[in-house]
Amino acid sequence: MSNRQISTKQQHKQYGIFYHSVNLSIMTSSFNKKGLHMKYKGIIFDLDGVICHTDKYHYLAWKQLADKLGIYFDEKINNRLRGVSRMDSLEIILENYNGSLTATEKENYSEEKNNIYKRLLEDMSPSDLSKEVKDTLDQLKEDGLKLAIGSSSKNARYILEQLGLEGYFDAISDGNNIEKSKPDPEVFLKACEYLGLSPKECLVVEDAKSGLEAAIEGGMDQAAIGDAVYTQLATYDLATFSDLLKCIR
Ligand code: G6P
Ligand code: MG
Repeated sequence: MSNRQISTKQQHKQYGIFYHSVNLSIMTSSFNKKGLHMKYKGIIFDLDGVICHTDKYHYLAWKQLADKLGIYFDEKINNRLRGVSRMDSLEIILENYNGSLTATEKENYSEEKNNIYKRLLEDMSPSDLSKEVKDTLDQLKEDGLKLAIGSSSKNARYILEQLGLEGYFDAISDGNNIEKSKPDPEVFLKACEYLGLSPKECLVVEDAKSGLEAAIEGGMDQAAIGDAVYTQLATYDLATFSDLLKCIR
């Protein structure tokens, strides 16, 4: 079942969610088992900042390394690291470094940061997964949607395990299966491939500008949450995670 969506740049409000634009595309829509019309067949979630809040751990780990190297680092710089791979994050931090590092030193420092980060992740548990997020994910599954993770992190599977979500998602595309991190669309295109769906059949949920840009480039619709809302780039802006349920019908 498909329907042609008419191009419009008009912003309008529906169910309390702002639609910035409607894609100039032929969207494939479908009906689920309960006969409900679904706009998407799959949802791809960024992990850090969407499903859970590991940003604070990334900040603490990078801060410890930056302090050791005498590099100025604050929360504002940390925000630029969202969705960006570990090595690219180090390069951003090194913008404030008066000196140069060899490739091996960079490898060693990024590993050092990761060891600090992983020690902090040990404290994560299923109690770090909010009820709202879990209930919404369960409802989306109930509605027949396929769910995937699309994260630049190489620690994504460990984080999911810590949250009690091991084996929960239909597909995981993460830092271990990509060459380029967001804003390159590779991580989301791989997630679509793993789900067996086309980009047009999927919605991406993101808290980072780099992630929204990746989804736009990849040809998926996007739902922004958290700070990503201020970019005004996304198809939908979510005030809260459960608003997602209003975007899919
Ligand atoms: C996510 C986070 C980034 C982080 C990246 C790599 O995208 O938003 O801040 O740099 O993952 O994480 P990793 O766990 O592989 O160091
Ligand atoms: Mg994120």
